[in-house]
Amino acid sequence: MTTPAQAIPPVRDPIRVLLLENVHPSARETFQTHAETHTYQIETRSTALKEDELIAALEGVHVLGIRSKTRVTARALESARSLLTLGCFCIGTNQVDLDAANRRGVPVFNAPFSNTRSVAELIISEIIALSRQLGDRSREVHAGVWKKVASSCYEVRGKTLGIVGYGHIGRQLGVIAEALGMRVYYHDVISKLPMGNNRSMPSLAALLAESDFVSLHVPETAETKNMIGEAELAKMKRGAYLLNASRGTVVVIPALVDALKSGHLGGAAIDVYPEEPESNTDRFRTELQGLPNVILTPHIGGSTEEAQEAIGREVAAVLSKFVATGATSGAVNFPQVDLPPLKGTHRILNVHRNVPGVLRDMNRIVSDLNANIDSQVLSTDAQIGYLIMDLEQDVSAEVSRRIDELETSIRTRIVY
Ligand code: NAI
Repeated sequence: MTTPAQAIPPVRDPIRVLLLENVHPSARETFQTHAETHTYQIETRSTALKEDELIAALEGVHVLGIRSKTRVTARALESARSLLTLGCFCIGTNQVDLDAANRRGVPVFNAPFSNTRSVAELIISEIIALSRQLGDRSREVHAGVWKKVASSCYEVRGKTLGIVGYGHIGRQLGVIAEALGMRVYYHDVISKLPMGNNRSMPSLAALLAESDFVSLHVPETAETKNMIGEAELAKMKRGAYLLNASRGTVVVIPALVDALKSGHLGGAAIDVYPEEPESNTDRFRTELQGLPNVILTPHIGGSTEEAQEAIGREVAAVLSKFVATGATSGAVNFPQVDLPPLKGTHRILNVHRNVPGVLRDMNRIVSDLNANIDSQVLSTDAQIGYLIMDLEQDVSAEVSRRIDELETSIRTRIVY
């Protein structure tokens, strides 16, 4: 699809930032600590905005920050002429039309790792809670029932934890579990360096057969959909426990219910569901409700004060780095380029349609002006190319104007 060239209005300080949905104040602090290159004028609002409200609010805004409730549509992106970049102060990015943002030359960033520790700690607490049937005992005492039992209650020391998906969360979990005296096995589709004494298992089946606790930390993909169903649950040890704080589609809930009712599994801790309510006011139903030794939580794995603060810092840092240098490392919809700033040079950024000959046209413009390119980095994806160019001579305004006139150009910006 072709996108008409769009000259963005000249970006002069202050950079206008609009933060919606009660983004943590750490974001504002972070923008302010990056004020050595640009000054930021930051507006915060507590709520999400509907499409038309968003379009009006984006007038003149360079940086938009949202959480999960603001839908950023292709129409909103088309009309946001000043918008340079967009930050999702959360993990998910499906509230944004990423393809449209890519075509408009707007990189979108998120915070994939700020809540890693929070999820790992929740799982550790649940491993112990399941092993001691804490959920049931607490419920009973609240109801006036005194059931002091030791039967089928265990220490976790010496037990085996099997981690499926040894990424950021899986690895963090493996380290903490080992400190509790657990034996840790993991299975991942990619070969991963083990932490501490954690051990890689050759297959999912082998991990399921060996583990007292199985904890899932895989992404939602076609391969992980229904990854744990009847056959996999049958491979788990009798009395073992299943924990899922990854994505709801990974476990076949009716099969899990059967495994719990039959007593094959000793319990489960579930934080994510195939279908989840949109808001805290919606009622929620799952077949898992009411089953003994089953801990159900409302997708709170990453929901801590620390994680919110870390998300505010992480996303504001990558947004301000993009404003200051054009770096797109970590953007979810954009070619990745990160060129350290070079003193005494003049930097231009250009986003263009990914067709042959664009670089040749741009370099000709520079040489026609008798300028020298100090450094140049280009990265492409299927639709667009993204170029950072550092020039020795201060001809940026003219180079930028001429590049912007190229039929292939989508956006051009002088950074400094
Ligand atoms: P990550 O990307 O760092 O790690 C995922 C790991 O799973 C990778 O090592 C990958 O190679 C592996 N993997 C992918 N497909 C696999 C398969 N078929 N079998 C085995 N391993 C496979 O992700 P991270 O940050 O550790 O997050 C893991 C999950 O936790 C994600 O689904 C994420 O959405 C979820 N999550 C849930 C939260 C909550 O509130 N409950 C909060 C944060 C993340």
